[in-house]
Amino acid sequence: MDPVWVLTLPENVTVAADADDEFTLHSPHSTLRLRDLAPGHRAALRRLTAPGESAGRLADYVREVAGPAALALWYYHLQSLAQRRLLRLEVHAGSTRLATLEPTASSFILPPAGAQRGRPYVLSRFAWLQRRGDVLALESPLSAARIVLHDQRAVALIHVLARPGTAAEIAGRVPDLPSDVVTPLLGLLAHAGAASAIGEDGASAEDTDPALRCWQFHDLLFHARSREGRHDAAVGATYPLAGQIEPVAALQQETAEEGIALFRPELDMLQIQDPPFAFVQERRRSVRNYAAEPITQRQLGEFLYRVARVRDCHRMEVATPAGPVQMDFALRPYPAGGALYELEVYAVVGACRGLSSGLYRYDGLGHRLVRRAPRTIAVERLLADAALSAGVKSTRMQVLLVLAARLPRVAWKYSSLAYALVLKNVGVLIQTMYLAATAMGLAPCAVGLGDSDLFAQATGADYYAETSVGEFLLGSAPYEEEW
Ligand SMILES: Cc1cc2nc3c(=O)[nH]c(=O)nc-3n(C[C@H](O)[C@H](O)[C@H](O)COP(=O)(O)O)c2cc1C
Repeated sequence: MDPVWVLTLPENVTVAADADDEFTLHSPHSTLRLRDLAPGHRAALRRLTAPGESAGRLADYVREVAGPAALALWYYHLQSLAQRRLLRLEVHAGSTRLATLEPTASSFILPPAGAQRGRPYVLSRFAWLQRRGDVLALESPLSAARIVLHDQRAVALIHVLARPGTAAEIAGRVPDLPSDVVTPLLGLLAHAGAASAIGEDGASAEDTDPALRCWQFHDLLFHARSREGRHDAAVGATYPLAGQIEPVAALQQETAEEGIALFRPELDMLQIQDPPFAFVQERRRSVRNYAAEPITQRQLGEFLYRVARVRDCHRMEVATPAGPVQMDFALRPYPAGGALYELEVYAVVGACRGLSSGLYRYDGLGHRLVRRAPRTIAVERLLADAALSAGVKSTRMQVLLVLAARLPRVAWKYSSLAYALVLKNVGVLIQTMYLAATAMGLAPCAVGLGDSDLFAQATGADYYAETSVGEFLLGSAPYEEEW
């Protein structure tokens, strides 16, 4: 390994006082005990304690004390540490630390020394920079490592990598950067997925992979960070905001006194009169044309009652790391992650018998519609956009149902996956809507795209407190189903 590489344990790791052939490390998230260590390995491992030691000097030491054959086992021990996030790789220029590679998951594999000499590299399109506390970190959803940039010259290297270059070319582009650190720095970046090698054909390795080419940056980052693997962020029901902010209420406070009471179907009758489930499931289709007479307010009421009414309200104590918290729940007919039911339903009415056009919020507890806006320009645009997406004439639009998520309710409980969970819930509700509409002989069609800024403009909602995440068209079917 190059002498500019330094291996070190993270600062928050402590080394236990063990017997001669053992080595135990304690970190906030794990304990690692290595037993039956060969002579030299334990001493070399102890030399990893911060501020660490040159990778080359450590390898020389192991070779001298235990012979060349002991090197393979030495790299095996280093790999074991790295997989457990117990090892860091730094690149130094003299006594100055330029950058540190921090493994973030068990899939991390120790890099070979530096980058390939003479080969050009370019900044990956998946690399992103973020402030983490008071340091600058470069990450990528392509790898299980992040790079903390300690020195402006390392940041300047990222800047010049926007254009491909070999180590020699890059050294010439960054003033004051010693040329012998460029190859190790490029290697560090390549291993963290932040730099991509350019091949003989002039294309970067990441652009020649046909599957990877299909991933946009935001899609891959969202995918990687909202699931487990290749990152070290907390995931799941960790209640990250408990003790800091109150959980968001189960039901949105409806201040409007006046609402339009909706028809409540008799569930007993529906169970007798509805077509059989297998018929509904087989007949379900997306229908994009409507009967001459629009859907009625009564049908819209029955539909909303079947899919989105509040069925049960209760309060429950939940155990959080900040202690027990009383939380309200308002259950609806479809399943929802954590039973949080963060989705709100809005009806944007183009044409509906018994209901004037405009924008309404569905109050699932009172089973009523509360009018939020007349047919404003923003409301008109919501209808026109959905019509365009579904290939429906905008003058023929009947009801557009907009699903809006109160994300903070989910994010209060779940780390990393709040938005992913919201989108899964949207899918669940959309299918519930398809089936109910089919059973009722109505025309359903999901819409894949919507404008969340436009929704905020039309409703006056705070984009971050409640934002549109799904759209669904509903109208009168152009034919009668026989069953
Ligand atoms: C999440 C989702 C988004 C959709 N987006 C649109 C859309 O924007 N426009 C449209 O006309 N159909 C849309 N559809 C309907 C699909 O095109 C339709 O389900 C598919 O072609 C299969 O046809 P079927 O529903 O009649 O079985 C969407 C469906 C889903 C589930």
